[in-house]
Amino acid sequence: MKPLEIVHDIFDVGIQDWAVRDFHGYKTERGATYNSYLIMDEKITLIDTVKAPFAEELLQNISKVTAPENIDYIIINHVEPDHSGAMPALAKACPKAKFIITMAGKNEAVQHYGDEFAFEVVKDGASLNIGKRTLSFAAMTMLHWPDNMATYSDYDKILFSNDGFGQHYATSKRFDDEVAKDELLYEARKYFANILWPYAKLAAKALPKLGAFDIKMIAPSHGVIWRSYVAEIMDCYAKWSVGVKDGSLIVAYDSMWGGTEQMARAIARGAAHAGVTVKVYKLSETPNSTIAAEFFTASGILFGSPTLNNGMLPTMGSLLTYLKGLAPAGKKAAAFGAYGWAGGAQKDMEEVIGKCMEPLPGYTCKWKPQALEMEAAEKFGFDFANALKEENN
Ligand code: FEO
Repeated sequence: MKPLEIVHDIFDVGIQDWAVRDFHGYKTERGATYNSYLIMDEKITLIDTVKAPFAEELLQNISKVTAPENIDYIIINHVEPDHSGAMPALAKACPKAKFIITMAGKNEAVQHYGDEFAFEVVKDGASLNIGKRTLSFAAMTMLHWPDNMATYSDYDKILFSNDGFGQHYATSKRFDDEVAKDELLYEARKYFANILWPYAKLAAKALPKLGAFDIKMIAPSHGVIWRSYVAEIMDCYAKWSVGVKDGSLIVAYDSMWGGTEQMARAIARGAAHAGVTVKVYKLSETPNSTIAAEFFTASGILFGSPTLNNGMLPTMGSLLTYLKGLAPAGKKAAAFGAYGWAGGAQKDMEEVIGKCMEPLPGYTCKWKPQALEMEAAEKFGFDFANALKEENN
């Protein structure tokens, strides 16, 4: 059976990675895809490759449309190995192919795979005629690495956006209007939060470039293709790249003997009483990347950890390290937790909060909260929620 023809003469030859559940720390609960598109024009062109273990499957998919040796160009929009891992296999199977790449991409590719490739370096704004189609290249620097670019086909009005507009979302359906919209938009947001958030300011600069193109379809290198919700996802990116604060609050905690958990529940009640939407996550039960997806749109976060061996719990250390890397500037945050004969967790948490968020005073309790401390925890949640509301007004 031939691969899906997404529009006339463009085939979806990429891979559904149904099994993958970890993408450098991002828990991909719905799997992932590594999309690759084969354009059958006068010059046969492949856009992006796949992760190395799937190189053979990619070549099999291509072979159902044309012999790989017929390929003239391989566009490398991005060298991260989920898209470039099959380069060495393709160099062997496609002996006449030129690898179209940015200069930053070439440098990265040489370090990954050596320099035995027929590279053709393109600059931002360059174009390449392949027959009926002219492909234009737009640098998308730091979306997600220094080398990223997007490729636009004027004939089809398709933007091959690589990581941008992607989702880690394996599905047998290939288009946005064939899947549950809420699920798709959640996965697109989760992807932005976990992959592109640290570079959001650069995204805000790069995205207006796409205004030069008349885009009817966005074919990313992860997840489904946008054809019905193109304007909507572009609006989301415009919003996400300048930062979102929807007024809500995240409570992220872990507990040893239940004291910090009791505090988290009381804090959430207090915040809800102030009229703020609260989402509560226990770290031992929730991946960091799920919390990041929710925190991305929230206005604030409260971190709760008891003290273990003079410091915060390792699960909290992991979350804070992960979130610090995402550079969540502008979000209000504070810490809470129970401690025994000596504290330490509070200091650890506040140290990280102070480096990357807007700190507010925290709340601690010795051993286990009793009635008075539970009331104080509710009040702490109530006051923090009101601080978020004041910011929104
Ligand atoms: Fe999908 Fe940055 O690689």
